[in-house]
Amino acid sequence: MTTVAIMGMQWGDEGKGKITHLLSEQAVHIARAQGGNNAGHTVVDRGQEYRFHLIPSGILFPHTKCYIGGGTVIDPASLLEETLGLVKHGVQYVNRLYISPYAHLILPYHRLIDQLAEKQKGGSAVGTTGRGIGPCYADKANRCGLRIADLLSESFPDRLKATLELKNRELQGLYGHEPLALEPILTEYRGYAKRLAPLVGPVEEMLYRAGKKGERILFEGAQGALLDNTFGTYPFVTSSCTLAGGVCSGLGVGPSAIAQVLGVAKVYTTRVGNGPFPTELSGEEMALFPDHRASREIGTTTGRKRRMGWLDIPLLRHTAMLNGVTHLALMKLDILDQLDEVKICVGYKHLNHFPPTVEELAQVHPIYETLPGWKTSTQNVQVYNELPSQAKKIIRRIEELCELPVALISVGPDREKTIWLEPFFQ
Ligand code: GDP
Ligand code: IMO
Ligand code: MG
Repeated sequence: MTTVAIMGMQWGDEGKGKITHLLSEQAVHIARAQGGNNAGHTVVDRGQEYRFHLIPSGILFPHTKCYIGGGTVIDPASLLEETLGLVKHGVQYVNRLYISPYAHLILPYHRLIDQLAEKQKGGSAVGTTGRGIGPCYADKANRCGLRIADLLSESFPDRLKATLELKNRELQGLYGHEPLALEPILTEYRGYAKRLAPLVGPVEEMLYRAGKKGERILFEGAQGALLDNTFGTYPFVTSSCTLAGGVCSGLGVGPSAIAQVLGVAKVYTTRVGNGPFPTELSGEEMALFPDHRASREIGTTTGRKRRMGWLDIPLLRHTAMLNGVTHLALMKLDILDQLDEVKICVGYKHLNHFPPTVEELAQVHPIYETLPGWKTSTQNVQVYNELPSQAKKIIRRIEELCELPVALISVGPDREKTIWLEPFFQ
């Protein structure tokens, strides 16, 4: 097994960053296929915390090479800030981090339109990260986007001028916003072009050659399956393909390049942003998780408190199908340590498929199984057999209900707080 796609199975923030960092110790290449700086991936390594938005979480190991694929959208200011963060931590990234020229460029009008559109939607807002992701992907689909390749080309000023005329009409007509001036954007982006140029490389070819040589490649997913632009809880979704299929279209690799799909899921569910959430905790139940900071359920990108709910098996079965998941990574078991009882939603009343509309999903009645808790810390457990028997029962129940093997269980943010059931890359 030489390639693994690490995919979020819920609404994002499952712990993909931790798993990618963990597996990257044994890998050579780590690539992001989609999304932008809406993502926030946290890595904790021997007590030191790192946050990534666009740079793959494998960058911390000096032997790795990391790639930002053609299917991503890049906000240069944010990416350059991330590179400065690496330097601050003594991580050298030159000749290790490569950007595809096909990636699209986030421009100031994308951020502005994202925020203005959300405001205009009022009560039906998506709750986006406000990073301009949706408007940038919309321009890509509408064939009026600008790419990294365009940023580096001599025709960039002309292209930007033409696009900005279009965007200014949108800003004024739809949102009553004053037009943006060309020159300051040009000057700002010329500066970015100079700084980004040394990082731009033939990502697609590099990955192809690595695959031919049988070198280990990780594909780091961003967001989660239910934020997928096609199969997620539309319209409360992001604007890219967040499924394993998106790895192929976003990196220019064929489906045969993905050997294993590791589906990352918390042993409960969270969601940040708006939209239906069948197993969301009631106000009373929220008292079971009193401290969002302690349970690390505050958004990495926007600092919003994540909505919390019980594990939803119909959801996981659905997203395992959409991703072709081969193994599960079960995250954050330790967060349930002190509960008297743990609930798992095992089905939706009178429904045997995952509903395609948010109206239907908002009305499902979850059927719960209640299992006794274990009331003891799992944070220092290193091998499966040492887990409390009630915790093991829940894990086996999840495997049975999802019809998938659990490859690893995570019991803390640090890389070392991981219990392996099936070796990956070993
Ligand atoms: P991602 O977007 O999927 O990479 O996930 P995030 O990094 O946004 O959110 C997951 C949060 O949970 C981060 O703060 C992680 O450090 C933390 N985390 C990951 N795994 C565990 C775990 O097993 N236990 C605990 N307590 N925290 C974890
Ligand atoms: P990671 O990779 C959780 C959510 C936003 C909003 C919706 C659309 O850390 O798991 P967008 O700005 O993408 O147009 O917002 O998607 N969202 C995420 N939620 N984790 C993420 O990334 C997310 N990226 C976007 O909150 O509901
Ligand atoms: Mg996150």
